[in-house]
Amino acid sequence: MSQGLLTVAYLAASLLFILSLGGLSNQESARKGNAYGIIGITLAMMVTILGASGLGLAATLAGIVVGGVIGAILAARVAMTSMPELVAILHSFVGLAAVLVGVSSYLAGDVDRLSGIDKLIHEVEIFVGVFIGGVTFTGSVVAFGKLRGKIGSKPLLLPGRHFVNLAALVGSLALGVMFSQATGSAEGIPPLVIMTLISFFMGWHLVMAIGGADMPVVVSMLNSYSGWAAAATGFMLANDLLIVTGALVGSSGAILSYIMCKAMNRSIWNVIFGGFGATPAKTTGAAEQPAGEVHSISAEETAELMLNAQSIMIIPGYGMAVAQAQHPIKEITSLLRKKGANVRFGIHPVAGRLPGHMNVLLAEANVPYDIVFEMDEINHDFPEVDVTLVIGANDIVNPGALDDPNSPIYGMPVLECWKSKDVIVMKRSMASGYSGVDNPLFYKDNTKMLFGDAKERVNNILSTIQARSH
Ligand code: TAP
Repeated sequence: MSQGLLTVAYLAASLLFILSLGGLSNQESARKGNAYGIIGITLAMMVTILGASGLGLAATLAGIVVGGVIGAILAARVAMTSMPELVAILHSFVGLAAVLVGVSSYLAGDVDRLSGIDKLIHEVEIFVGVFIGGVTFTGSVVAFGKLRGKIGSKPLLLPGRHFVNLAALVGSLALGVMFSQATGSAEGIPPLVIMTLISFFMGWHLVMAIGGADMPVVVSMLNSYSGWAAAATGFMLANDLLIVTGALVGSSGAILSYIMCKAMNRSIWNVIFGGFGATPAKTTGAAEQPAGEVHSISAEETAELMLNAQSIMIIPGYGMAVAQAQHPIKEITSLLRKKGANVRFGIHPVAGRLPGHMNVLLAEANVPYDIVFEMDEINHDFPEVDVTLVIGANDIVNPGALDDPNSPIYGMPVLECWKSKDVIVMKRSMASGYSGVDNPLFYKDNTKMLFGDAKERVNNILSTIQARSH
């Protein structure tokens, strides 16, 4: 394939990726954005395959077939609620790829064939690429372990951890200078290998220091790192498309991390340098430390309350995703809106287990976009709301985040639903949510607990409302 054609194809793919990101930033255009992305990556893969020949072509095709089959099986099997784990482990592959490409490029003598400034530039590309890749690799493996529950969610805070990180960084810089001054690969390999081990340690250490409830921001940050690792690989391989794509992933991941940090009232520097979500939990679960009396309610009584309400707010959380209760809740919404009620959905930025989790589920159930609001848009409206229905949400409606300085989620803005006239919380038990802390909301006078699986209970409410609507 001619170089000119390759450049045009890469340019077209880059444009499609930019259009894809633009489309994905809005629910209405997300499908179109996805389509642009699929066309872009198909084009990129096709020209890459066409550009290869001989052994390279065979290896590329074998890689695509093996990787494609494994990827398709994993993606088909994974539950929506386990997506963050899958994303984390995929980030680790990008990091490992950057390490392998960097080391193999050096071992293949790519640097020795260059001289002067070109040689120095390629050495920097390899060294920086391997470093970012190493941090991304082990950081993502730890994130995967924490999200899966294989590694405890408690932050590991080594004494003098910031000093340890600084020493590792300075040590890596010194090794970088040694690497660039090496006269041959025999001299260059030791600093490269030692730095790789340091980068593995740093990735492990940085993410081990993050507390459970703050993992969403870390996953998004690792997404950004994986983009920079891919861009660094692009530099090493002199592949313009990989540079552009990596930079797009890196910068969009960084912007998402910043937005999530703002939403959770956390400092982005703490995410980068660790020790995030580290405040010790005072309480460990509602069942162990009851903070008052709990009032329960039946599905029929809930339906009555909703039928008599003018203004209704629905707050979905992780439990709605587990129970797959979005379809019956959409039915309820339609019936109540037909009766003239103002029904709205309030979405917390970290509801569920991945960014936009609730929006995806509600869109799947065809809930109209114009009644789905972000937390900031509706938080001040709760005093005018008659009934708030909390479906399988816990941490995102925890008042302790605002008034308990000992809570690990203290400082995170939450949906202030307790300010509405009545609050119904649907969940199976008094168990805590993802962050493992007690929720004082359950004990408030205007809160009633509707126990049971969210889908079953929503169906019960729907039956009553349907019966009353005929
Ligand atoms: P959680 O705080 O995890 O609470 C979910 C609640 O759903 C649980 O207390 C559980 O109580 C209930 N539940 C589970 N299955 C249910 C079912 N079948 N029917 C009814 N209820 C069910 O969820 P949230 O309020 O959405 O908050 C999200 C949390 O996850 C935050 O701490 C956030 O930091 C973290 N996180 C978010 C992300 C992203 S990016 N969104 C990623 C990773 C972590 P029972 O067991 O009593 O039923």
